[in-house]
Amino acid sequence: MNWDAIDWTVLGRLRTDFLSGSAGRRDYWQSESDLASYDATFAQRIGWKWDYVLAELTRRGWVPPVGELLDWGCGSGIAGRAFLDHFGDQSVTALRVWDRSPLAMQFAAKRAREKYPGLEVRPGPREDHSAHGVTRTAFTLLISHVLTELTPEQIEVLMALVPQAQCVLWVEPGTHTVSRRLIAIRERLRERFNVIAPCTHSAPCGMLVPGNDRHWCHHFASPPREIFTAGNWSRFARLTGIDLRDLPLSFLVLDQRPAPLLPAGAGRVIGHPRIYKAHALLLGCDATGVRERKLSQRKLPQEFRALKKSAGEVLRVWAGDEVGATMPLPKQ
Ligand SMILES: C[S@@+](CC[C@H](N)C(=O)[O-])C[C@H]1O[C@@H](n2cnc3c(N)ncnc32)[C@H](O)[C@@H]1O
Repeated sequence: MNWDAIDWTVLGRLRTDFLSGSAGRRDYWQSESDLASYDATFAQRIGWKWDYVLAELTRRGWVPPVGELLDWGCGSGIAGRAFLDHFGDQSVTALRVWDRSPLAMQFAAKRAREKYPGLEVRPGPREDHSAHGVTRTAFTLLISHVLTELTPEQIEVLMALVPQAQCVLWVEPGTHTVSRRLIAIRERLRERFNVIAPCTHSAPCGMLVPGNDRHWCHHFASPPREIFTAGNWSRFARLTGIDLRDLPLSFLVLDQRPAPLLPAGAGRVIGHPRIYKAHALLLGCDATGVRERKLSQRKLPQEFRALKKSAGEVLRVWAGDEVGATMPLPKQ
């Protein structure tokens, strides 16, 4: 990474825009240098969240359909590149990058063409989402870190596009507010799509049951260890006030195709476990709802140790009110 090319003043301005909630009001990409500085820092962190989500999809045995990949609200294009790095550039017929900012589209397209010289990269909107009678073709839609910038009307524009996609992979920050917005979107779409992840089911979201209001569906990705000893990442952390260890995310993956089969009673852990002396409490979700499950050190000593190191498995089969075995999943 070329840290010399980073404009630290721009990073400070972007951080202020993101935090103040003013980022949605106007196009804040003023130059290619803005995008390069973002791409090397904020976007890398977002890329690690995508890596987490894509690894989970592979664990579940999910593979993308062949077709166009559309990165909507692409910014510097990190979501598309994370997807192509994970599944390979042969997994799609073309990459399309779309953003309200022409500068962002140009930047994302340029980076992708440099990285995947054999791939067709198309900046601009899909020709067939303006309902001009053009034949619709299957595509996979990536949406990353846009919800805090969209007005309700702009969300509706996006929601008109979403059902046209065969698959939707949507990653957002792991805050209570944004997670709850994504849950509302899941509820609108779950009759139309199969829910692939993070849920293990397409039933109504258990977070919406009275009594669960304080919870939200969030997860934690891990940044690479090297960044903790890198001076420039420390400078980035100081400038932005971001804790580098913390990578909370919300996500939603939908597919018009049938979901890969999971074992009966499959469930998923949400958020961080609460660890006590001889047991831990994990917020667990499955088709019957969201509630805490106990993992006892005596019954699952290895698992308990893994939890203490933040390395617990999130896909599980419950044993009543207790955490049971790690979910057996398709071998890769
Ligand atoms: C925080 S950035 C995220 C960029 C990229 N998706 C990522 O994950 O790094 C939000 C992006 O959404 C774009 N955006 C905001 N409102 C939009 C709209 N109404 N239509 C299309 N793009 C929009 C912005 O220009 C910006 O590039």
